[in-house]
Amino acid sequence: MTKFPEARLRRLREFPALRNILQETRLSASDLVYPLFVTHGRKKRIEINSMPGVLQFSLDNLEVEIAEIKELGIGAVLLFGLPESKDTVGSASYKKQGIVQEAIRHIKDISPELLVITDVCLCGYTDHGHCGLLRDDKVHNDSTLEVLQTIAVSHAEAGADIVAPSAMMDGQVFAIRSALDTYDFSGVAIMSYSAKYSSAFYGPFRDAADSAPKFGDRFGYQIDPSNVRQALQEVVFDIKESADIVMVKPALPYLDMIVRIRQSSNVPVAAYNVSGEYSMVKAAEGNGWIDYTRVVLEIITAIKRAGADIIISYHSKDVARSLSINC
Ligand code: PBG
Repeated sequence: MTKFPEARLRRLREFPALRNILQETRLSASDLVYPLFVTHGRKKRIEINSMPGVLQFSLDNLEVEIAEIKELGIGAVLLFGLPESKDTVGSASYKKQGIVQEAIRHIKDISPELLVITDVCLCGYTDHGHCGLLRDDKVHNDSTLEVLQTIAVSHAEAGADIVAPSAMMDGQVFAIRSALDTYDFSGVAIMSYSAKYSSAFYGPFRDAADSAPKFGDRFGYQIDPSNVRQALQEVVFDIKESADIVMVKPALPYLDMIVRIRQSSNVPVAAYNVSGEYSMVKAAEGNGWIDYTRVVLEIITAIKRAGADIIISYHSKDVARSLSINC
């Protein structure tokens, strides 16, 4: 084996054009998904305190936002809705005129080629803030499945391309696949939040989507952050239940899981760079402590390097913008 001084690794690092040609991981705007929060009413662009730069939009303000997303080369959005009212069973989640259903139709009107992904969960729609129906103050798995089926079908009816169940109920992928197929939506794909950890990094999102649990926590259904094998099992189960895409969430503190899941399965892997990951970087930027653009590109590159095919991030627009400037 050659060794120093004949072997020199710096030889390939000095000249910028050589560095460029050797870059192993390249980001593209088409890797990215941008989450959108939609709300009832008119002329609303409500900034979320803990997530500077992220807004809740009323539908009449979506057109400008969608135009910007497309202009930047981002091909997909992930929708979250803020309902007008909440109840114990989250009935606003599956109404034909529900906020997400209206938003899907509106986006498909403005921009049929944009990929529309929807979050399928109850936490933003229930008055107790849990991801499923309650029985004796516990989230009841099997009765929740029926509601998740109804939500997924209502999104598909409105024109969603992909539904993304995030409630972490056992059997949710199978239940949703059967319901979609029964209603003739066999072409609608399922991106399952498979390795979804019970994470404190969701804090700012719960402001954005007004979805914090009013009592207790989500440890009874989301995965304990210290566990590897449970997440791998979730992925195996979800793929057996016919998930088309599996997700790891959060992303940066769980890069090890992205690597493992990429290696152990052949379906596309998505990673969700969640709200708390975003807010920390934004706070550091606001204090002038970091070079925001470089830090964000490094984070998103790391997520892709670990093996993510799809990256969902609140930084997506900033990333796409700096990619378009640099090329
Ligand atoms: C709904 C859902 C959550 C997120 C995505 N879908 C919140 C939660 O599980 O509490 C979090 C996204 C983020 O933090 O950016 N269950």
